[in-house]
Amino acid sequence: SDLCAQGKAQGKRVFIRADLNVPLNDAGEITEDTRVRASVPAIEMALQAGAAVMVTSHLGRPTEGEFKPADSLAPVAKRLSELLGREVPLVANWVDGVQVAAGQVVLLENCRVNVGEKKNKPELAQKMAKLCDIFVNDAFGTAHRAEGTTYGIAQFAPIACAGPLLSAEIDAITKALAAPARPLAAIVAGSKVSTKLTILQSLAKNVDQLIVGGGIANTFMLAAGLKIGKSLAEADLVGEAKAVIEAMAARGAEVPIPTDVVTAKTFAADAPATVKKASEVEDDDMILDIGPETAAKLAAQLKQAGTIVWNGPVGVFEFDQFAGGTRTIAAAIAESPAFSIAGGGDTLAAIAKYGIEDKVGYISTGGGAFLEVLEGKTLPAFEILQQRANG
Ligand code: 3PG
Repeated sequence: SDLCAQGKAQGKRVFIRADLNVPLNDAGEITEDTRVRASVPAIEMALQAGAAVMVTSHLGRPTEGEFKPADSLAPVAKRLSELLGREVPLVANWVDGVQVAAGQVVLLENCRVNVGEKKNKPELAQKMAKLCDIFVNDAFGTAHRAEGTTYGIAQFAPIACAGPLLSAEIDAITKALAAPARPLAAIVAGSKVSTKLTILQSLAKNVDQLIVGGGIANTFMLAAGLKIGKSLAEADLVGEAKAVIEAMAARGAEVPIPTDVVTAKTFAADAPATVKKASEVEDDDMILDIGPETAAKLAAQLKQAGTIVWNGPVGVFEFDQFAGGTRTIAAAIAESPAFSIAGGGDTLAAIAKYGIEDKVGYISTGGGAFLEVLEGKTLPAFEILQQRANG
């Protein structure tokens, strides 16, 4: 990925779609800036080539046509200015024209507020394509969505290509899974089985250990015949969870079910935590973390692994009394000689919280996109660029 022949970008208008969808706190400050940092190389490449650079991203899931202050990329513009060491002006209402000189960069406001972005309406895509000579998609985190700025503009722009981050992410994840050092362990955690069912089913065909955590583990505990009190779970997916356990068992592989858990009576930052056996969960208990015995067993397994794929914290790690499981898993990954790959917003937050950035083999900026590449799917935003390159 050479930003579509970098040398030829001199004086050209380059439109970069990045994924700058970062978590913000109530004060509107960025709490985890991996995605902003990861967007810098493409922007610098375009600037060095002498292009007039426009960058955009979505932030959150705004209602189209209704821009609210909370939808603004202003915090991102500020962070990007710091990282690039130059002022990055934020441009509102940009669809019909953008003022930007060669050697300059502007950030175009939240593209998902534009009418037609989500549904990829051709009228919008054609207008956006007119803004540029070269379209560069570097938004790996959004490459599983076929939207106006990830798909439509790539169809209509004079030149369209993948940016360095998009290419590197797909390469790294695909290569790591093509011939992994074994045992291959995957940690798939997070609140809902429904959002991760296809990845669980697909990993069940390949991994040696499928470690589940969070609300996902609760549904698997139900499948294993355990009581989970009032814990978050999806009872209608117990059958699917059983099928995953059986698919693994048929290959001599396993889904470890927690033997102890950390519970509370309420979901709150100051809720007192109780460690108990998985078989002793009461009707009014909520499971908010795996217990220390389970965490230690999993940590021991992870240290034996050849490759580890990590998506999702195993407990409510934002609250310290329910963070033990995630902290132990993070430490085990950091200490394991295995090649590790991690992705997903909460996972990146956990990696940052426990300071193990340098100990993880590969950190992806993707959440859903990361999971889809792991499943072996072709991402639509990448596919259209391949078509353009071949056509
Ligand atoms: C993400 O955070 O996974 C990406 O930015 C995509 O966001 P979306 O799920 O709202 O499309």
